[in-house]
Amino acid sequence: MDQIIIRGGAPLRGAIPIAGAKNACLTLMPATLLSDEPLTLTNAPRLSDISTMTALLGSLGAEVSSLQEGKVLALSSHDINNHTADYDIVRKMRASILVLGPMLARDGHAVVSLPGGCAIGARPVDLHLKGLEALGAELDLREGYVHAKAPGGLRGATFEFPFVSVGATENILMAATLAKGTTVLKNAAREPEIVDLAACLTKMGARIDGAGTSTITVEGVDRLHGATHPVVTDRIELGTYMLAPAITGGEVELLGGRMDLVASFAEKLDAAGISVTETEGGLRVARANGRVRAVDVVTEPFPGFPTDLQAQMMALLCTAEGVSVLEEKIFENRFMHAPELIRMGAQIDVHGGTATVTGVERLKGAPVMATDLRASVSLILAALAAEGETVVSRVYHLDRGYERVEEKLSACGASIERVKEQ
Ligand code: EPZ
Repeated sequence: MDQIIIRGGAPLRGAIPIAGAKNACLTLMPATLLSDEPLTLTNAPRLSDISTMTALLGSLGAEVSSLQEGKVLALSSHDINNHTADYDIVRKMRASILVLGPMLARDGHAVVSLPGGCAIGARPVDLHLKGLEALGAELDLREGYVHAKAPGGLRGATFEFPFVSVGATENILMAATLAKGTTVLKNAAREPEIVDLAACLTKMGARIDGAGTSTITVEGVDRLHGATHPVVTDRIELGTYMLAPAITGGEVELLGGRMDLVASFAEKLDAAGISVTETEGGLRVARANGRVRAVDVVTEPFPGFPTDLQAQMMALLCTAEGVSVLEEKIFENRFMHAPELIRMGAQIDVHGGTATVTGVERLKGAPVMATDLRASVSLILAALAAEGETVVSRVYHLDRGYERVEEKLSACGASIERVKEQ
C-alpha cells in the first residue's frame, strides 16, 4: 500500500485545477441503465470509485469506455444481460445501490446486494427501499440482497422523505422518470449533484421540475434517449483545496471553482479570516497575515455546511486562535480523523457528535493512518502546515476521491511525495 510523505511549513502559491464531481459522476453513470441509447459523460474525474462503478455496470452487461485518459466516459446499456449487482462489488462502494432504481424502472426487475455499512456509519438504505415501494415496487430482502420487482412497471406517487437523503433522492428520481404518471418528492435533497443529475436526465428526455429545491415533480415518460453531459465541478474537492492556502498561508487559485457550489463553506472561511474572491478562472483563496480565527461549524444538508468538508475544516481549526465547536449531524461516526490529528499535537475533545477544538500554534509531523476518504485528506492538510515530516499510510482511501493529490499540491510548492510502503 502506498504512503504519502509530507514535509510541512511552506506557504502554498499557484493554481489547482478542480475535477468533475465524484458524487455527481457516481449517480450519472447508473442513469445509463434508463435508456438503450448511448450516454456520454465529459469532465469525468479519474478516481478509483469511478473504476468501481465501471466494473459494476460492466457486470450487468453495460459497456463503459474510458476515453481521453478517463475524462470522457462513453456508456451504453443496450445489452443488459444480468440484473444482479453482486455483494463483492457493492460492498466496496455504497453508491452501487444507485443501480437499483434505474434497472427496476427500465426492466421491471433487479437484484442488488445491500451495501455494508462503512467507517463513518451504518448508512442503511431504508429510504431508498421505501421510496421505490411508494412507486409500486415489490421488494423482498433475502440473504443480504434486495429482490425488486415491478411487473406492470412503476407508478408515479407522492413520497415525503422523513429526513434528507442524497442517495435516496437520486435513486427515486431516476426511477420516477420512467414511472407511469406524476411523482412528487417532498423533503428531497437539494445538493448540486441532484441538480446535475436532473439536468442530465432532462437532456435524456425526462420531465423534471424543482431539482435543487425540496420538492421535485416528475412526469413519467415511456422511454429516455441518449445524451452528452458534463459532470459538474466537484464542490468537495474544491472546498478541500481551498483549505490548503488557508492552513499554510499563501494564495492559491482554484481553477473551475464556483462560489455558488461552496457558499456556506466560503462564509465560514471568511469568518475565520480567510479571503475568498471570484476570479476569471475560478476562486482565489488567500490567508492574510496572522492566525486563523476559531469558528463553530454544524454540518447540514445543502445549502448548509457540507459534512464532506467537516474533517478538512477541523484540520484548519486545529491551528486557529481560540476554541471551535464542530457538530456532525449527518453521520454518527465521522470524527475518526480526530485521534490522528491529536497525534500531531492537536487539542480535540470528542463527545458523541460534537468535537471541541482548542487551537495550537503549530502542529507537529507524525506517522498517521487514513481511515476514510475525507479523514485522509484532512491529515494531508494538517501535514502541509505541520512542523517536520508526516507519513500518511493507507492512502488508498484518498485515491477514492482525489485524483493526483500529490501532483496538485506539489505544483503549488508543497513538499509531498508518494512512496511504496516499506
Ligand atoms: C452521499 O451519501 C455522498 N455519497 C456522501 O459522500 C455524503 O456524505 C452524503 O451524501 C451526505 O451529503 C455519494 O454521493 C456517493 P445520505 P449518501 O443518504 O447518499 C442516513 C463522500 O465522502 N440514511 O444523504 O449515502 C445516512 O446513514 C461521501 O464522498 C438512512 O438512514 O448519504 C446518513 O446518516 C461520504 N437511510 C444520512 O441519512 C437511508 O436510506 C444522510 O445520508 C439513506 C440514508
